[in-house]
Amino acid sequence: LDNGLAITPQMGWDTWNSFACSLNETVILDAAKKIVSLGFRDLGYEYVVLDDCWSAGRNSSGYLVPNKEKFPNGISDLADKIHASGLKIGIYSSAGTMTCARYAGSLGYEEKDAAVWASWGIDYLKYDNCYNQGEEGTPKLSFDRYNKMGKALNVTGRPILYSLCNWGVDGPWNFAPTIANSWRTSGDLSNVWDREDVNCPCQEKEGIDCKLPGYHCSVMNVLNKAVYYPSKAIPGAWNDLDMLQVGNGGLTDEEAKAHFSLRAALKSPPLMTNVMTKTDAPTLSILQNTAVLAVSQDPLGSSANRIWRYYVDDVDSNGKGEIQLFSGPLSGGDQLALFLNAGSEDRNMNASLVDIFWEDGADGTAQQIGYSWDIHDLWANRMSNETANAIINGMASGSNGTMNMTAMGGARKVYS
Ligand code: GLA
Repeated sequence: LDNGLAITPQMGWDTWNSFACSLNETVILDAAKKIVSLGFRDLGYEYVVLDDCWSAGRNSSGYLVPNKEKFPNGISDLADKIHASGLKIGIYSSAGTMTCARYAGSLGYEEKDAAVWASWGIDYLKYDNCYNQGEEGTPKLSFDRYNKMGKALNVTGRPILYSLCNWGVDGPWNFAPTIANSWRTSGDLSNVWDREDVNCPCQEKEGIDCKLPGYHCSVMNVLNKAVYYPSKAIPGAWNDLDMLQVGNGGLTDEEAKAHFSLRAALKSPPLMTNVMTKTDAPTLSILQNTAVLAVSQDPLGSSANRIWRYYVDDVDSNGKGEIQLFSGPLSGGDQLALFLNAGSEDRNMNASLVDIFWEDGADGTAQQIGYSWDIHDLWANRMSNETANAIINGMASGSNGTMNMTAMGGARKVYS
């Protein structure tokens, strides 16, 4: 959406994964304080988003009102405090009659709701898909329903980042770029690296509660769904692979690094969800890796492409799982290479140089660009507290036609 916002993928923190419906003013202000004191704000994490369960329904004039117990001073006052700490504030609703947690939804109330949020000083809207009255099933139905809120936000005259949360339904990567700043590509991301039994996205059926963890998506499910749409993302309009699960206890540090790296490569908005007041050293180190954040926030705004994916059982008999290679251009003529090792064993991975350092040739086939590159490992130095971006492998030369390197943030999953 060309509204001057999210020129690079929006960064911030959201209440949902850690607090769900237990959010309140204290939780949010404590998190905001930590976002500042731990240095997150100065790295660009700027939005503090109140997810579901903040509201107490509508007043007699039809305007949304906040829950008084959770927000005794109101949300306008909270917005002032958040702004005073140099951050911005986001809120949540659904393009349906109710939110996913069954609070008042905004379908049919778009103008009133946008107006009230703007009057409170809201800077960001996460707009969900629950209870949509069957107004989905074709891109047009979804577009029309989400476009109503987009227009209403625009009418307020306040710059409000518009983030769709419709779980990939009706192909938002096709219908949303002109009306929204980001769109979700899948169901909710669970706090789990991989699951073979996962049903993603969950289909609402009688007797099945899609909110149960078993029906949410793993990091690998979400990734393997989203890789097909990277070319649709452009500055101001991003694929959202759902919020980060870094620091939430379900991923090993290696998995969290891989998760964070992949989000940076695919330009998915880095929205943290950890309990800020309990941020431990590895979590801090991952979320504050400036080299990886620079990939996320690269001004070119070009998502990496998945070049290949192999099940490691097909490559050799050394473990289970899969390996993937991503590459893509960065600004200044740099090139990103991401080696994902989601297999159960450590491994060296080889890639041919043309798979990493390439551009489309005149005949439409990939042509290798350059034969001599400095290689920077975006993690090794960071985690060992040395200078970021040190050269790890010297030059990768074209002489033998391959580059050999261990996975960037390779996740070594041990299957039991
Ligand atoms: C949906 C969304 C989540 C969260 C919850 C709130 O499941 O996908 O990100 O906002 O609703 O109820």
